[in-house]
Order: sequence, then C-alpha cells, then structure tokens
Amino acid sequence: MSDQAIELRALRKLYPAPRQRRKRRGFVPSFTPGAAGGLQATASKTGPAGEIIALDGIDLDVHEGEFFGLLGPNGAGKTTTIGILTTRVLPSGGEARVHGHDVVRDAVRVRQRIGVVPQRPNPDRGLNVHENLLFHAAYFGYSRSASSARAHALLAQVGLGERAESKVDELSGGQQQRLMIARALIHEPRVLFLDEPTVGLDPQARLALWEILRTLHGEGRTIVMTTHYMEEADRLCDRVAIVDQGTLLACDAPEALKRKAPGGTLIEITLDGDAAPLVAAARGTDGMLSAEAAGNVLRCYHPRGGEAVAMLIGVTLGAGRQVTNIHLAPPSLETLFVSLTGRKLD
Ligand SMILES: Nc1ncnc2c1ncn2[C@@H]1O[C@H](COP(=O)(O)OP(=O)(O)OP(=O)(O)O)[C@@H](O)[C@H]1O
Ligand SMILES: [Mg+2]
Repeated sequence: MSDQAIELRALRKLYPAPRQRRKRRGFVPSFTPGAAGGLQATASKTGPAGEIIALDGIDLDVHEGEFFGLLGPNGAGKTTTIGILTTRVLPSGGEARVHGHDVVRDAVRVRQRIGVVPQRPNPDRGLNVHENLLFHAAYFGYSRSASSARAHALLAQVGLGERAESKVDELSGGQQQRLMIARALIHEPRVLFLDEPTVGLDPQARLALWEILRTLHGEGRTIVMTTHYMEEADRLCDRVAIVDQGTLLACDAPEALKRKAPGGTLIEITLDGDAAPLVAAARGTDGMLSAEAAGNVLRCYHPRGGEAVAMLIGVTLGAGRQVTNIHLAPPSLETLFVSLTGRKLD
C-alpha cells in the first residue's frame, strides 16, 4: 500500500465534442467574466474529432496530511480531477489512486476513505440539518444511534450547533456550505475534497470557512481543495498545483512558487485599442525588465511599479493614445500564472 494519499499518473479525460460547436482540431473558445467585470477569452483544448481534452496527462502526488490546492481558471480541469478522484467521473486514460486504491477498480474502498464537498451545495432539502448527516452516515453503514452524537459534535465544530433541527432552506449559503463539510466528515474519511468551497460567500463567511479548514488540517486530515482565488491557495495550502487547459504548469509550496514568479512588479496598462504599437517604446523606458502586448493590454515588468506607471502613461499619451485601466501586481502567484500562461487567472 502506498503512503501517498493521492497519486495521479498520466491522467487523461476526454469529453465528447459539443454537438453545436463541432470543430476541426484547435481550440473551442468560451467566455468567462474577467477581473474588471469584462469578458476574458478562455479556450478548451480539443482533439482531432473535436472532443474536449479536459485533462491532458496529469502527474501528481498528494502526501498524507497535506493541505493541497488545485488552482486554475474556469475550465482548467479542476472539477474533472476531483470528479475522477471521488469516483464520479471515469478517466479516459492513466491512473488515479487514493491511499493506494484505484478509483476505477476499487471505487467502493475509495468512497469509504473520502469525504466530498461539491462545487454547489446539494443537501437533501426534505431533511433537517441533523438528519442530513444521519442519512449520509447510514449510507456508509452507521446506525442512527452510532452517528447521532458524532453528527451533533460535527455541527458544533462547523458552527451549526444551534441549527440541528433547522430546515436546510433556512440556512444561508455559507451555512449550507458548512453543512456540506460536516456531512462529508460524518463517516470519518481520511481525505477531504472541497471543490471551490468559498465561491459566492461574503468575506466574513469565507474567513469562517478558512478557520474550519485550518482546524481540520490541524487534526491531521488530508485536504484537497480547488480554487481560482490565488489568495485562498496562498493562505491555506501547503502545496499548490497550478493547472490550465488540463495541464499541470507548476506544483510547489506557495512561497516556492512565488520565488519562481518573474522579478519586478507586473504593470498592465489597458489601452483604447491594440497595444502592440507601444511595445517598443515601453521596452525603451528606464529600467523596464520586459514589455509585451496582449490585445489592448500592455503588460510590463519593472522593479519599481509606481515609477513605471508614470513613464508608461507618458509613452501612451505621447503616442496620442488613451489609458482605460491600470493594474499593478507585485511578484505573486498571480504574476507567476500570467508569466506561465500569458493570461490572467480571474
Ligand atoms: N460533463 C461534461 N461534458 C462535456 N464537457 C465537460 C463536462 N464537464 C467538463 N467539461 C469540459 O471540460 C473542461 C474542464 O472542465 P472542469 O469543470 O473540470 O473545469 P474547472 O477547472 O472545474 O472549471 P470551473 O472553474 O469553471 O469550475 C471544460 O472545457 C469543460 O467545458
Ligand atoms: Mg469546477
């Protein structure tokens, strides 16, 4: 038996070609909300028959007791990876094991060892909060009497001790997410999977959830969480895998990843049109480390961000162009992601 909690070897997943959008080999474009509320193009990798390549050969180990993050933009393959590891999605190639058990051949053993918090809370709305946990425990063979006290203890741990008799619909989004965590833990799994657990939560609810996750990690549990929030991955995870278009781009501790980020502050100047004509002038400004165009965005790295902004605005206005947005980011997981993919994460 392996001492790794999770092993992925050359893991692949193909989904059939979307019927409406069958295309020749290449990319199927889709649009997701961008950081400034605009639309940012993302692309799914496709195969010869137009099938979507959701995972394109992922190799990954998660150690026992580790808090592991899968960080990537919409469509990166995060939910597909979690789906395969939790036996809900069949892989198209390669292998995935949880505590040495193959997720396809040994699915029952895998399910006994894992708890799953899905991307969207899916409690049984016909049952109250406490009953949701008992019902789930019964599925794993625990009697009501055996699981009742544990259910109350778990509800107290996630801050729902007073809500045991409430209907699910009386809970807020954050409370429902915490109920999902309690439910995922009722059969005492060794590995907890959470798919984007804090999406849609207000900052206070997010911080409350972070505290719960830190406590669970402190108890020695292995936690695998997907997120597209860099701060979340940075603050919570022992190690982070950066995925994009079904490929693993980097995997390391957040501090080590940040050290791999390009030096200097990333300065992005959004212009009123194509940024390419300004690249040469930007490269010529004092101290500039690099400058390139990505559509309307002039993307530069400079050791002193504020100084560079002033110079770049001068260059832009001098060329008779307008600036519509400015974004600065010091070396971080964000600047690493941009340097690896040429795109922003959110
Ligand atoms: N059931 C499905 N049928 C067809 N294509 C799918 C299916 N599920 C996912 N895909 C495609 O596979 C790719 C990876 O999707 P996945 O849901 O794993 O990404 P994700 O990283 O979880 O994204 P998000 O951040 O939006 O949740 C996407 O191109 C998506 O459109
Ligand atoms: Mg997802």
